[in-house]
Amino acid sequence: MQVISTIAELHERLTDEREIAFVPTMGNLHEGHLQLMRGARKHGSCVVASIFVNPLQFGPNEDFEQYPRTLNDDCAKLEGLADVVFAPSVKEMYPVNQTVYIELPQIASELCGAARPGHFRGMATVVLKLFNIVQPDVALFGRKDYQQLFLVRLMVEQLNLPIAIVGCETVRAEDGLALSSRNQYLSDSERAMAPFLYQTLKSIKQHMQNGDRDIEKLERKAIESLAGRGWQVDYVVIRNQSDLMKSDSEHLVILVAAKLGKTRLLDNIEFDLL
Ligand code: PAF
Repeated sequence: MQVISTIAELHERLTDEREIAFVPTMGNLHEGHLQLMRGARKHGSCVVASIFVNPLQFGPNEDFEQYPRTLNDDCAKLEGLADVVFAPSVKEMYPVNQTVYIELPQIASELCGAARPGHFRGMATVVLKLFNIVQPDVALFGRKDYQQLFLVRLMVEQLNLPIAIVGCETVRAEDGLALSSRNQYLSDSERAMAPFLYQTLKSIKQHMQNGDRDIEKLERKAIESLAGRGWQVDYVVIRNQSDLMKSDSEHLVILVAAKLGKTRLLDNIEFDLL
């Protein structure tokens, strides 16, 4: 495995590769990322991971400075899973002040975009830059960040990028908590409470599959139940899988974002009405 930090060196390394599978990450890798890497091997003869904490997708009061940077540990975990790790500096990715951005549709300003203004614009801009730099055939993203995956697919489709996007299953701890680099911010007591987020999603799904279709009531009750246990809820919504609009189909996704103390956690569950 080679660890490369410049675009020029990366281009030289990848020049003869014909089937590149790419996993973009911000590092601090956990089992969820490693599953993406294992998935990537099925899609390409050369597996590239990027590790880059992208300043463009963090708001002024967010955790950009604190975000765990663990390059050596990450590379040890990637040994045997990736062929190339691209770990550029901020200067390498943004040699000049970035003034050109991807403009996304309104849905990018809703849900996580409402709580994190500019987040998806910064995410999409760096993902497009990374796609242009790595030139993968396939790129893999986790389904936990459902809105991110949705927007990346939209960008790839509408900008005619010749890249297949693969969404991979959320990896969970035994108690159901979706794995995330931010879980390590949780105190012991918060960690013990955290599985309630996924339990809430499963309970809404159960109600809907049992015939309860009062979406507003189900959303409201879930918010009340989380808030009653000390969560600060950004949103609990039931939407169409295909367009993230208010649900009018049978293929649904329930999305949640809520904070325990200072840690903002995301989760979702996809299901079809029976
Ligand atoms: O999901 C992430 O880790 C990031 O948003 C991504 C896709 C690597 C872009 O910085």
